[in-house]
Amino acid sequence: MLGARGGWQAFRRCASLPRAQRAVRLRVREALEAREPASEVKVQGWVRSVRSQKEVLFLHINDGSSLENLQVVADPSLENRDLTFGSAVEVQGKLVKSPHRMQNMELKAETIRVVGPCDTWSFPLKMKERHPLEYVRQFPHLRCRNNTLGSLLRIRSEATAAIHSFFQDNGYVHIHTPIITSNDCEGAGELFQIEVSWKLPETHFFNVPAFLTVSGQLHLEVMAGAFTHVFTFGPTFRAENSQSRRHLAEFYMVEAELSFTESLQDIMQVMEDLFKTVTSTVLSKCPRDVELFHKYIAPTQKDRLEQVLKNKFVTISYNEAVEILKQASQTFAFKPEWGSDLQTEHEKYLVKHCGEVPVFVINYPYDLKPFYMRDNEDGPQHTVAAVDLLVPGIGELCGGSLREERLPFLESRLQRLGLADAYQWYLDLRKFGSVPHGGFGMGFERYLQYILGVDNIKDVIPFPRFSHSCLL
Ligand code: 4AD
Ligand code: MG
Repeated sequence: MLGARGGWQAFRRCASLPRAQRAVRLRVREALEAREPASEVKVQGWVRSVRSQKEVLFLHINDGSSLENLQVVADPSLENRDLTFGSAVEVQGKLVKSPHRMQNMELKAETIRVVGPCDTWSFPLKMKERHPLEYVRQFPHLRCRNNTLGSLLRIRSEATAAIHSFFQDNGYVHIHTPIITSNDCEGAGELFQIEVSWKLPETHFFNVPAFLTVSGQLHLEVMAGAFTHVFTFGPTFRAENSQSRRHLAEFYMVEAELSFTESLQDIMQVMEDLFKTVTSTVLSKCPRDVELFHKYIAPTQKDRLEQVLKNKFVTISYNEAVEILKQASQTFAFKPEWGSDLQTEHEKYLVKHCGEVPVFVINYPYDLKPFYMRDNEDGPQHTVAAVDLLVPGIGELCGGSLREERLPFLESRLQRLGLADAYQWYLDLRKFGSVPHGGFGMGFERYLQYILGVDNIKDVIPFPRFSHSCLL
């Protein structure tokens, strides 16, 4: 986005051009934030409202740079049949102080050009209507023109930048991990296999079966053999039931891996710091966009989030979690038992029990978790050094662990699973300078759902993929 300074520099450069070419293009946000009036300004965007009075014509224009629209004030003679809600326009005129209390500047139009008309009758969005998220989800190709999705997409963009900054500022190296891979990191069988239309299904394009990645972790572990701090942030794919409110087939995952780390607490500290730093940045960089969610979508979320940012996250062990669940007065569809996975209903109960705050659950049963997790060598209730971060309304936001860095332990576990051959390269990492290490992954969409209080995960992605027969 062109910063306000960029706009004004361009303004100075153009001062010597002939009048018609002199107008400086300003983004809506730059125009709203301008400190001084200016003549010969040009703003482009889409019309959010048109109000025609006897003596004056009012337009509101939005170009995606902010939630707020720029008010355009024009002589009624500039009105034109195509100047409707949804049309694309270019307005040239003077930027003046607005007499309106709620806004700093407005544009006094000298010319208005309709660049692209809009048939308001068939356009599914209607002027000044607060469309519910369920309604706009039906129009994946048009919903970004709605205020809520506009705010979401600006927040998503800021949060992405904040995640990169957090890791870069803390000395992590960003690694592009592959999207096409032959490993199944989580071993949960939720893989999308890659097939090529012109090859027979049994003859693979890469000679071996290839899949869309379910996690970049194993590739990060390779890099953690040379770089002590690495991270990746990219698309991740799981063949899961995407009808759920918190599962997607394609989502973004942030993953970090730290070498020379012997304590799960160190990994948990990075998770907590990442969450708090990114959230504080988003709250301070997009206050109006976040406010829209906290006002209209999840009215209690603002205060709760402020509390969460001030307090330390709670930690309980899996053993404690099972005891809490067993003593609950509530009856669960899945009976809580040591050795069984925590279900969403259990996760929700635990978070409520701990005061509706983020809760780390650590040390899960050995048999429940993937092969790479570090054996705690305890017993008889045998556990691994795993951690899940549970948050209110969502359940699991992050999953992580210490990794099994000891060759004999890893080798025997892989052998028992019949995976030793396939993972020779992974075993190699334990032969050549192996160090204690660990890491975690955070679901980016679940993160956005939580901080904004959005119920359905499909409302925090740019395109509601593979739903409503939309293959955009
Ligand atoms: O807990 P998961 O499966 O952990 C891993 O994949 C590890 N290999 C990460 C690591 O240690 N580097 O996934 C991590 C997070 C989950 O906690 C959840 O927030 C999110 O990814 N996630 C999903 N988000 C949306 N839709 C899905 N289908 C998801 N599956 C996992
Ligand atoms: Mg998990």
